[in-house]
Amino acid sequence: MNPVEIDDAVSTLAQQPFDAGEFPFEFLRAFGNPETTIKRLRSGSTNQSDIAGAVLQRSNIHIATCPAGEVDAMLKALRTSPKTASAKARFILATDGEAFQAEDMTSGETVACAYPQFPDHFGFFLPLAGITTVPQVRESSFDIKATGRLNRLYVQLLTDNPEWRTVERRADMNHFMARLIFCFFAEDTDIFVGEGLFTRTIEQMSARDASDTHVILSEVFRAMDTKLRDREAAGVPRYANQFPYVNGQLFSGSTETPRFSKIARSYLLHIGGLNWRKINPDIFGSMIQAVADDEERGALGMHYTSVPNILKVLNPLFLDDLRGKLEEAGDNGRKLLNLRNRMARIRVFDPACGSGNFLVIAYKEMRAIEAEINRRRGEPDRRSDIPLTNFRGIELRDFPAEIARLALIIAEYQADVLYRGQQEALAEFLPLDSQNWIICGNALRLDWLSICPSTGTGVKIRANDLFETPLDQSEIDFSNTGGETYICGNPPYLGAKKKSVDQVDDMDRVGLGKAKLLDYVAAFVVKGIDYMERTNADMALVSTSSICQGEQVALLWPRVFKSAVIKFAYRPFRWANSASRNAGVWCTIVGVSKDSACSRLLFDGDIRRECQQISPYLIPGSEVIVSPRSKALSNIHPMTMGSNPVDGKRLILEADDYRSLVRESSASQPFLKSYGGTQELLSGERRFCIWINDDHANEAQEIPALHAIIEDCREYRQGAGRDAKKAAKRPYAFCYSTYQDSPFLYVGNTIGSDIDFVPASLKERGHVISHAAFAVYGVRLAEFSLIVSTLHRVWAETIAGKLGNGIRYGNTVVYNTFPVPLLTSENRNQLERCAIDIMLAREKYFPANINELYGAKRMEFDFPELYDAHKRNDEVVERIYIGRRFRNDTERLEKLFDLYTKMTTKKAA
Ligand SMILES: C[S@@+](CC[C@H](N)C(=O)[O-])C[C@H]1O[C@@H](n2cnc3c(N)ncnc32)[C@H](O)[C@@H]1O
Repeated sequence: MNPVEIDDAVSTLAQQPFDAGEFPFEFLRAFGNPETTIKRLRSGSTNQSDIAGAVLQRSNIHIATCPAGEVDAMLKALRTSPKTASAKARFILATDGEAFQAEDMTSGETVACAYPQFPDHFGFFLPLAGITTVPQVRESSFDIKATGRLNRLYVQLLTDNPEWRTVERRADMNHFMARLIFCFFAEDTDIFVGEGLFTRTIEQMSARDASDTHVILSEVFRAMDTKLRDREAAGVPRYANQFPYVNGQLFSGSTETPRFSKIARSYLLHIGGLNWRKINPDIFGSMIQAVADDEERGALGMHYTSVPNILKVLNPLFLDDLRGKLEEAGDNGRKLLNLRNRMARIRVFDPACGSGNFLVIAYKEMRAIEAEINRRRGEPDRRSDIPLTNFRGIELRDFPAEIARLALIIAEYQADVLYRGQQEALAEFLPLDSQNWIICGNALRLDWLSICPSTGTGVKIRANDLFETPLDQSEIDFSNTGGETYICGNPPYLGAKKKSVDQVDDMDRVGLGKAKLLDYVAAFVVKGIDYMERTNADMALVSTSSICQGEQVALLWPRVFKSAVIKFAYRPFRWANSASRNAGVWCTIVGVSKDSACSRLLFDGDIRRECQQISPYLIPGSEVIVSPRSKALSNIHPMTMGSNPVDGKRLILEADDYRSLVRESSASQPFLKSYGGTQELLSGERRFCIWINDDHANEAQEIPALHAIIEDCREYRQGAGRDAKKAAKRPYAFCYSTYQDSPFLYVGNTIGSDIDFVPASLKERGHVISHAAFAVYGVRLAEFSLIVSTLHRVWAETIAGKLGNGIRYGNTVVYNTFPVPLLTSENRNQLERCAIDIMLAREKYFPANINELYGAKRMEFDFPELYDAHKRNDEVVERIYIGRRFRNDTERLEKLFDLYTKMTTKKAA
């Protein structure tokens, strides 16, 4: 269940008559517990409570209902219950149907309220639904509620007005929703005079059967687009005359309104009952954008860049600097003034702004700094010098673009109320400014310079309104030229296979050619660099970490380094916006600047490190880019890809097929070999292949069972591609063979996300490996011990490309580029001993396969001897590099890159 659905279920529960016996189960059901879980708790089989009538769900919650007036005592009993502790209950909850109390046993936070109000605290209990990672979600009960209610209204209106569903009408529908949201906010914040004016007017003036709700709404909207002096002539009805003139084009244009059913009308009134004063324009905007998106609606309330992640971008990009200058200025009036003037000239530009959350947060943070300046200068009521027009964005979809405009206006109003007081805020709020700050369009096809013109550039075309966005009207004058621009945001990520034809074309247009391998987000980086080259701008974007790994690095970063350096970066971190969605996405934030003298900061979790340079692989180090090599850079034995049959699986036999073939004809056995790729290496499963040398082809084909298979393969190849056709002449043999009849080191082509090392093993002769794996032929113990080391895994993770959730291992990309110091014979001996120890330790745990051994969450407890053997191996390998263990992966990478740079420079010389 998502937070909106939970809010819904909890609210419904609170509205029903209180049933002491049922309440615990209903409460758990509202947080998404399935019927089977409830059934087991009810029957007592999983209910671990030691309090009569209470329900204890292990690791989650201990709930008890009690007679009237005994909630305090019951909560105490739950707190001291031995079962609460032994079953590790996260929450305790007591209620008598009038009072409601709960406590989070880990944080000590409490909730105490009247029973009907407990749904307002549903965010407190979200960990019960597995939603633990986003404190903002917990703190945004209002935003979730409002999103849920608006979503219901939106869906109902589309059901009532199917013609509004069409692509042509979608913008009208979205504009209508933006108008409604504005009215709800305005009526709760005194922008409209009279409490609840909007909702009250609709309720009182429209018929109960909803037949004329659309007419009343239209009239109210028309009034807000008509200046007071013109209203009489325009025939604005008396009830609509109470509304102010809003302008900003929010209410201009067609006032046509969808028709309302009775249900839709009641939804509308219900939404009006919420307290919109509590809206967070940053969070709300991002949540609500899913409303207008059929695919996203299921994830309502879950999908947005969290405020801490936005600050990870904005703080090092420019806010930290502003705060530093504020600190430096102290009470020096002149310096404070300079800072204020500088801030008034700063532009913030988000080219994929969604509902404007980066812009809103940037605006709010800057207003906080400005308020402090004004306070120190003794001008607390001063009107803000930071124009909203300096916060600009582009957004592809029209609904988020509408919401972004609204969110910025609301943020401005809230900041005015906070820093200057309600009266001042109201005095200046209406009519809205009609300049256009958010452009709806494809950022990769628009000229950013005309949307966010460079210093001193004159106006070419002036936008005439805030809520209409013809693309040719994007150029407006900033009220102040001469300042800095900061490009920021979280543009979309789309890997190689996910881009549409248009998106591939977008990439081509920004000069990346048809670079299919590059993620879509790279186009925003390049477009930003183009912009920076012509302006005084820095840029920081959230991005998939894949643009800093594998082959993408060589495709993107040389273009960036032509004119910029990495000013700050975050080591890849797991995206943690919601418990389940996006769970596997690894992100980074990279900030770039044209100023090569800027200080450089690398963030690794909570560690912040100053460094001289930051490499595109997001470690301290030079801008060197690792390119695939056909031969190993170091003095290690060559690794080849396995053999490719190109046979439509004709020459490959599953274990059963192998057995029946041998049963049918034992003469075929000499022509069969064990065969496998990465899957077989990991699972230990066995497959086989037909392996016939040219010398024995005639002999083999005389065996009827083999003959049939070979003919089948010939037929397949004749009908397949060019290479297969050529190979049809030798249908008994693999199309490409790298097989050698010797023992070998067997290496997988992927490192799964649940396995912590490059999968590898040592194999006896006579085994054919497929092109889904690699081999180093010969008895290669030292190479084995290097490959299974932590050092090599870290290199592979950084240098190789991503493959789903895992990492693609490759000989040219990873093994051949891996820098190894010249190994002495003593080094080799030590490594060989480690290799043997690892293989022996694996044997000890036979029949556990590699997946089981290395996928174990706690290898040190489950397979301690193997764990120790790897620890010793890491120790030996790392001593060869620096004479001691590395402290962490960043240090490992720094050393590897340093060595790589030296070795490649030497080779080149
Ligand atoms: C990952 S979201 C980030 C939005 C917002 N900052 C947030 O955190 O919710 C990326 C946004 O880029 C928009 N987008 C996708 N392709 C775009 C393009 N070519 N030009 C402009 N915006 C685009 C999407 O509609 C989406 O709103």
